[in-house]
Amino acid sequence: MAAATRLISRLTLVTGGGSGIGRAVCQRFASEGASVVVADISEESANETLGSLPSDLRGQAHRAAVVDVSSKESVKKLITSIQTQYFQPPSVCVNAAGITQDDFLLNMDEDHFDKVIQVNLKGSFLVIQAVAQALVACGAPKGSIVTVGSIVGKVGNIGQANYAASKAGVEGLTRTAAKELSRFGIRCNCVLPGFISTPMTDKVPEKVISKMKSLVPLGRMGEPTEVADVCAFLASDDSRYITGASVEVTGGLFIG
Ligand SMILES: NC(=O)c1ccc[n+]([C@@H]2O[C@H](COP(=O)([O-])OP(=O)(O)OC[C@H]3O[C@@H](n4cnc5c(N)ncnc54)[C@H](O)[C@@H]3O)[C@@H](O)[C@H]2O)c1
Repeated sequence: MAAATRLISRLTLVTGGGSGIGRAVCQRFASEGASVVVADISEESANETLGSLPSDLRGQAHRAAVVDVSSKESVKKLITSIQTQYFQPPSVCVNAAGITQDDFLLNMDEDHFDKVIQVNLKGSFLVIQAVAQALVACGAPKGSIVTVGSIVGKVGNIGQANYAASKAGVEGLTRTAAKELSRFGIRCNCVLPGFISTPMTDKVPEKVISKMKSLVPLGRMGEPTEVADVCAFLASDDSRYITGASVEVTGGLFIG
């Protein structure tokens, strides 16, 4: 199927859709025909993304929604409201909500450790579980869930004990979900970005960025659209024989 239309009639939930990689995913998926639910903890950012989405392909209806992925109640409410509005659960879900709270291991507060795990790891679990439960309950023939991990989940990163642990966790979570959910036609995969220019990396000191760039074989940081392109492939039937995989989108950074 032509890339431009391969997501027609795929209702898609994107968490963290208000910024960076999540926003680029919303835009890419909408341009391929999906109806997109832009979900974010920031209502303003979600609405900003919503306003940028094309909707000229068949049957498209996008909406913005507020969710805190670390809260089971909030995630449940979101899935219920999607089902009420669209009369179906999302058959595609991209978990892009994420945070950092960096510090050296020797100084890291317990609260900062817990918060990052709650959003990045538990949040992915809650969303995957709620989407899968809704798909199974309605007998949907297929689904695709993509979770944004990070290359640092594999290799570690100074100052990011909490973040690296959360991202290693989402890979284990995804592999397990892939094994358990394949019999329901639901595929689960991860993308592992390297260093991508977004508001999250805007916080990283310029000194560290230029050191990182020098380590990237392709010689530059990535763009959110370059991660979104891979998410669109994993969401679509072009990847129908791929599940439990982690796809690195790093420009070659930390090739094993
Ligand atoms: N930028 C990078 O270099 C990079 C590299 C590897 C992985 N990632 C991952 O990609 C994902 C997106 O990151 P980004 O760089 O686009 O960051 P970003 O800060 O631009 O976007 C993250 C979005 O998540 C939202 N969010 C935060 N907490 C939330 C919550 N509890 N519930 C719902 N939404 C919440 C934020 O409001 C924001 O809109 C994250 O999971 C991040 O860990 C980013």
